[in-house]
Amino acid sequence: MAFVTSKELLADADARGYAIGAFNAVNMETAQGIFTAAEEERSPLIIQVTQTTLAYTEPDELIALIKVLADRATIPVALHLDHGRTFEVVMQFLRLGMTSVMIDGSLQADGKTPRSYEENMAVTKQAVAAAHALGVSVEAELGRLGQIGAQLADERDEALTDPDEAGRFVEETGVDILAIAIGTTHGLYKGTPKIVHERVAAIDKKVAVPLVMHGGTGVPDGDVRKGIEAGIRKVNIDTEMRVAFYGSVRDYVAKQEEVYKEADAKGDVRKYDIRNILKPARQAVVDAVSAKIRLFGCAGKA
Ligand code: G3H
Ligand code: ZN
Repeated sequence: MAFVTSKELLADADARGYAIGAFNAVNMETAQGIFTAAEEERSPLIIQVTQTTLAYTEPDELIALIKVLADRATIPVALHLDHGRTFEVVMQFLRLGMTSVMIDGSLQADGKTPRSYEENMAVTKQAVAAAHALGVSVEAELGRLGQIGAQLADERDEALTDPDEAGRFVEETGVDILAIAIGTTHGLYKGTPKIVHERVAAIDKKVAVPLVMHGGTGVPDGDVRKGIEAGIRKVNIDTEMRVAFYGSVRDYVAKQEEVYKEADAKGDVRKYDIRNILKPARQAVVDAVSAKIRLFGCAGKA
């Protein structure tokens, strides 16, 4: 199946009141695991890659693989750039055939220094002009989501997305999807995250486009459901799959060390068959993604 835009997928999610899982692929096994789960659950899928993939593999290599998987898929799939930090990165990924891009104008290219509202607006407008000319959907971010976990309560309130500002931002930039800061953060939480649910509903009232919850890993199921009830239509998951993958590799290797303690001396190289290590890790990704798809209510919606 050819890729669709995330705008199309999210329109159905909005009409039927569920959220679509957006999952980050970093290599062949994670990409395969994500597709298998979405197929098994009959769920629409947003598969994401990030610009940090550039540091690991040439993005066209991974995207070529994702295209093969999407061609074989019987579910609708959008190919999305996650957290593009600059206009140049967005352009680079547009050339690779993305049907959806995120311009994360909340932070500068270093991924740490905040951009002002005006700077965010300027870079977002640039990305929207280029992407829309190609019929590609654009997600933007408003608020300072990445820093929330590390902040004190009053500073944290500062970082949350302001509903009125969000309304103006979406209207002026013309973005199709908006990532909001509501108390989630990337990676693993220290303790339980405090999601500001009233904020989701307040933003939803002012903003006509679908809203995104980033930092989906570790958000309690009840909070995810409440978020979806209040208007979240896309939930990003990355760390959860890495944890599942890593846990599987660690367990497998530990077991093999035990089983083949004396094998090296005998020249038995079976424990070095990396396919045996990666196969259960890929399955761990399938299981993790399937559980999220069911939680988000997108199972059976393809
Ligand atoms: O953009 C990606 C996500 O927001 C993933 O967050 O790693 O906490 O699941 P996570
Ligand atoms: Zn994110």
